[in-house]
Amino acid sequence: MNTVTKNEKETIQFGKKFAKTLKGGEVVLLIGDLGAGKTTFVKGAAKGFGIKKNITSPTFVLLKVYKVESSKLKVKELIHIDTYRGLGLADLENIGALEYFGREDTVCFVEWGLGLEKYLKNAKIRIYKIEIKNLDIDKRQITF
Ligand SMILES: Nc1ncnc2c1ncn2[C@@H]1O[C@H](COP(=O)(O)OP(=O)(O)OP(=O)(O)O)[C@@H](O)[C@H]1O
Ligand SMILES: [Mg+2]
Repeated sequence: MNTVTKNEKETIQFGKKFAKTLKGGEVVLLIGDLGAGKTTFVKGAAKGFGIKKNITSPTFVLLKVYKVESSKLKVKELIHIDTYRGLGLADLENIGALEYFGREDTVCFVEWGLGLEKYLKNAKIRIYKIEIKNLDIDKRQITF
């Protein structure tokens, strides 16, 4: 699938729509340059799960856990990870990230997460790869 968004708001809307298709247990790998809109997409996804808390970049804290309040949904937590600083598998294990992957009551979003693809595939965890490309100042191409 392929879409072009014209502004931040549209990327948030798209992330929201995407999140509603998730069943739980998926890991979403977000690919794209600095400022492409990866965090913005996760903001939208959080909205899709009814999370009211503002999503901020986990660049310095590495991992954030957001509770899903709705009792109707199977997904109870949205995990947001940023591996930009070169976090590898061992680091992710140390910060307790690995235990979230593939759990049916969580969905995980990993910025710069392409390096995890092989590991996740071996573990038979369902992954999505979402690539966000800068087309213009406010224009982004989102492919997955
Ligand atoms: N169509 C668009 N979609 C998403 N963001 C947009 C769009 N147009 C402009 N922007 C702006 O681009 C920036 C995207 O920032 P964001 O933090 O989401 O990027 P990122 O990919 O997470 O960057 P980083 O690699 O630093 O984590 C925001 O300032 C946002 O307002
Ligand atoms: Mg970001």
